Amino acid sequence: MNKAIAALNREFPALRTRFCGRRLVYLDSACTVLKMRCAADAQRESLLRLGGCGGRRSFYSLSSEMEEAFEAARRTVAWLMGAGSPDEVIFTGGVTDAANLLANSFPFTKDRNEVVLSPLEHNAVFLPFERLAAAGRVKLKVLPLKGLTPDLDALPRLLGRRTALVCLNHASNIFGGRQELRRAAALARAAGAYLFSDDAQFSPTHGSGAAAEGADACAFSGHKLGAPYCTGALYVRRELLAKLRPWRVGGGTVEGVTLAGGYKAKYIGGNRGFEAGVQNYAGAAGLAAAIGRLERAGFGNIRAHVSGLVLDAHERLSSVKGVRVLGGKAALAEGSLLSIVPEKRGFSSRDFALFLDSSVKGLSIAVRSGRHCADLACLSSGVKETLRLSYFTYNTADDTELFARVLERYLRMI
Ligand SMILES: Cc1ncc(COP(=O)(O)O)c(C=O)c1O
Repeated sequence: MNKAIAALNREFPALRTRFCGRRLVYLDSACTVLKMRCAADAQRESLLRLGGCGGRRSFYSLSSEMEEAFEAARRTVAWLMGAGSPDEVIFTGGVTDAANLLANSFPFTKDRNEVVLSPLEHNAVFLPFERLAAAGRVKLKVLPLKGLTPDLDALPRLLGRRTALVCLNHASNIFGGRQELRRAAALARAAGAYLFSDDAQFSPTHGSGAAAEGADACAFSGHKLGAPYCTGALYVRRELLAKLRPWRVGGGTVEGVTLAGGYKAKYIGGNRGFEAGVQNYAGAAGLAAAIGRLERAGFGNIRAHVSGLVLDAHERLSSVKGVRVLGGKAALAEGSLLSIVPEKRGFSSRDFALFLDSSVKGLSIAVRSGRHCADLACLSSGVKETLRLSYFTYNTADDTELFARVLERYLRMI
C-alpha cells in the first residue's frame, strides 16, 4: 500500500472498533465513509474553543473568528469543487439538501420547464423534481440506458427549446463507473439549458469537482468523504446563481425589512442569500479538515488505490458461479464500487447481507443490499436489487477475498 494512503488510514478509528466483539470489514463506503479523526477534532475544536455565531451578525472577536474560519472552509470547498470563486459555494447539509434547494429555487418558466434526468439519479435528486412535476411546475424526461450507463447519444433528442435543466449523476451509487460529464454539459449548454451534477459518489475518490468539467451546478456530501454528517455544499456558477430565487429565507438573507405601504424585504442575493439562519460552522470546520487531509494524501493516490480494488473485485467475483457482476472492467475502474446480482434461485441479497454481518466468526462484513435509493436505475434497467461492494482507502484486496469466500460458502449452502 502506498505510504500516503497507509498514513491516511490511521485517521479512521472505527476500523479498530469491535462490533459485538467482531472486527469490522467495511464495504459500504458509498453509503458513508467512516469518519476521520482530524475532521472530528476540527469540529470539536470549533464547538468547544469557539462555539459562537458567525454570519456577520455580530462584531466582537469571537464572532469574527467563527466567520473567518467559515470563509476559510468555503475556500477549501471551492477548491474541491473546481469553483471559480468561493462566492459560488453554498453550504448545505449534503446532496439531498442541495438538490431540494436547486429544484425549488430554479428559475423555471412556462416556456422553459423541462428537466432531463439521467436514469441513474439517486432519489435525493430525482424526488425533488418529481414533486415539482406532480405539482405541474415542470415536465420530466428520463434518458434511456445503454447497457448500464446513460445513453448520451440520445440526449440531443430529449433536449429542446423547453429544456431548462439536465441532471447527471457523475458516478453512480448502484452501477459504479463515472459519466461523461463534459460531453453532457456541452450538449446542455448548446440547447440553452443548465447542467447539474450529483458528485456524491465522485468527490470522495476523484477530488476535483464537476465545475471544472463544465457543470453549472454540482453538489457533494461531506459524510461521504470522512467529514461530519450534515455537511456539504452546492456549487452554482455565478451567472445561474444570480437567477435562482432562494426557497428558504430567514436570518442572514436580508439587507433589511421596511414598511412602505406594506412590509417589504430586500434580499441580499449571492450565495449567502441561500444560507438562512445560523449555519453549521463546526461542521464546515470538520469538512475543511477532511478535504485538506484527503488532499494531503493525494487524490491521485486515492483514485489509484480504489480503482485497483474495483478491478481486483471484478476479477475475483466474476469467478464466482451463481452471481453476476454488473458492468465491464474498464468502466467500473473509473468508479469506486461494483454491484453483483444473484443468478441462483432462492438467493436473497438481504439474507446474505445479514449472514455476512453475523455468521463469520470474529468478523462483521458490512455490505449493502437492495435498490440503494436508485429507483430510476432499477426501473430503467430491470435490475430488481443488487449487492453492492463499495471501497475507500482503508480497504484491501483481502476484504474482497473474504467476501468472495463467504459468498461461495453461502451459495453452496442454499
Ligand atoms: C449518488 C448519490 N446522490 C445523493 C445521495 C444522497 O446523499 P445525502 O444523503 O448525503 O444527502 C447519495 C447517498 O447515498 C448518493 O449515493
